[in-house]
Amino acid sequence: MTELSTDIIIQGCQPISGTIQAGGAKNSVLKLMAAAILAAGQTHITNVPDISDVQTMAEVLRQLGVAVTLEQSALTIDTSTVTSYVAPPELVNQMRASIAVLGPLLGRFHQAQVAVPGGCKIGERQLDLHFSALEALGMQYHTDTVYIHASAPQGLKGAPVNLSFPSVGATENLMMAAVLAEGETVIDNAAREPEIVDLADYLVAMGAQIKGAGTPQIRIIGVRQLKPVAEYQTIGDRIVSGTFLVAGALLGGPLTVEGIKPAHLAAALDKLISMGVTVQAKENSITVFRERPLIPQNIQTLPFPGFPTDLQPQFMVLDCLAKGQALVAENIFENRFQHVRELQQMGAHIKTQGHFATVEGVEQLQGAIVQSSDLRGGAALVLAGLVAKGQTRVTNTEHIDRGYERLTEKLSALGATLTRAGWRTAG
Ligand code: EPZ
Repeated sequence: MTELSTDIIIQGCQPISGTIQAGGAKNSVLKLMAAAILAAGQTHITNVPDISDVQTMAEVLRQLGVAVTLEQSALTIDTSTVTSYVAPPELVNQMRASIAVLGPLLGRFHQAQVAVPGGCKIGERQLDLHFSALEALGMQYHTDTVYIHASAPQGLKGAPVNLSFPSVGATENLMMAAVLAEGETVIDNAAREPEIVDLADYLVAMGAQIKGAGTPQIRIIGVRQLKPVAEYQTIGDRIVSGTFLVAGALLGGPLTVEGIKPAHLAAALDKLISMGVTVQAKENSITVFRERPLIPQNIQTLPFPGFPTDLQPQFMVLDCLAKGQALVAENIFENRFQHVRELQQMGAHIKTQGHFATVEGVEQLQGAIVQSSDLRGGAALVLAGLVAKGQTRVTNTEHIDRGYERLTEKLSALGATLTRAGWRTAG
C-alpha cells in the first residue's frame, strides 16, 4: 500500500514577526461536537479549526447517524436522526477523544458502545475515573476486547462525585451525562480548564442547569430535555497560541496572537516573563518580544490553572537555549518526553530520569532530521527547527496536523522559511 506522508523542512534562524490568529480550541470543539448529541436538531459551531481531529470527530458523529458539515471554520451538525450508539475501533483508535461521546449517548439514549481507546504515545490514558463517575449516576458497563458496552437500564440519577484526580475528560463525560440525569449532581475536584467552562457554557445555552464550571466544584441539576444551540463560538486555542508565542520568544518577535484570552494562558505567560520575554496582554490578544538572553526556568506541569502539560515540550526548547540549568517535571503524563531524544539529536543537553528532565542550555541548536512522536512534541521540534542553525526535517507530521491548522502556511506568513516535502513509501 502506498502511503503518502509529508515532512516539514525548515531553514533555521529566519526572523519571524507579525500577527497570527489563534483559531478555535481543539480540546473544546471536539467536546462541543459530542455534546450536540444531547439534543435533537441543528446546531452551528463557529471558530472551528480545520484539523484532522475535527474531521475524525465528524466521522464518529456520522457513524451515529448525525449529519455534519464543516465549511469556512463553521460546523453544521444535525442530530435529528441518531440511528446508532456505536463508536467503532477504526475511529476511536485514531483519536482517543472519541470517548467524549460516551457521556452524551448515555445522557440522551441510556446506552453506548464505544471502542476501547488504544493506549497512546504519551501515557497509559486510563478511563477508570470516567467509569467510576458515570457508575455513580447509574451507568452499568462491561468491556470485551474491542468495546465498552455501557447502559443505564434504570436511567441516570444525579449523585455526588468526588474525582480523585481533576481529569479533564472525566469531568466532561460526567457533565454531559448529568445534564439529563434526574436530580442534582455535584462534582468535587472537577477539572478547571477553560475548555471545561466552554463546554458548560455550551450546555447552558442548550438549556442545562450548571453552576461552578471553572471552579473545583460543579453543581448540575438535570433537566428533562435540551434544545440545540442555534450558534456557538468556540474559545481560542490556548495551546496553539502558546506554541506561537514560544516561536516569538525564541526568535525575538515581536509576535502577536489574536483571538485568545490571556487569562487562559496565565501560567505560561508568567513563565515567559520569568525567562526574560516581554509580554503585552490585551483583552483578546497577546504580544511577545525578547531583547535579552533567555533565563532558564524550572517547569512543572499541573492541572489548570497550573502550567499546562500541552506546552511542556515547547517550553523545553526555550530552556534548551537559556543560560544555565532548568528542571522540567512532567506530572500529568507518564511518557511525555519523546521529543527529548530528537532535541538531543539537534545538540540539546537534556538528561531524563522518570518524569524529570534536566536541561543544560546551549549556545545554539543544529538542524537535523527529527521524528514527531506526538502532537505537542512534534510542534516543539518545529519550533527547534525555526531557531536551529541550518536545515531541519521533521518527519511523521501527521501527528502535528491533528491539532495545528495550516502550521507551515501560518509560520511562513510570519517570515519563517519552511516547506512540506511529500514522499511515498511503496508498501
Ligand atoms: C485532555 O486529555 C486533553 N485532550 C489533553 O491534550 C491534555 O493534555 C489533558 O486533557 C490535560 O490537560 C483533549 O481534551 C482531547 P485527563 P484527557 O483526563 O482528558 C490520567 C493534546 O495534546 N487519567 O485530565 O485525557 C491520564 O492517564 C492532548 O491536545 C486516569 O488515570 O486528560 C493522564 O495521565 C494531550 N484515569 C491524566 O490523568 C482517567 O480515567 C490526565 O488526564 C482519566 C485520566
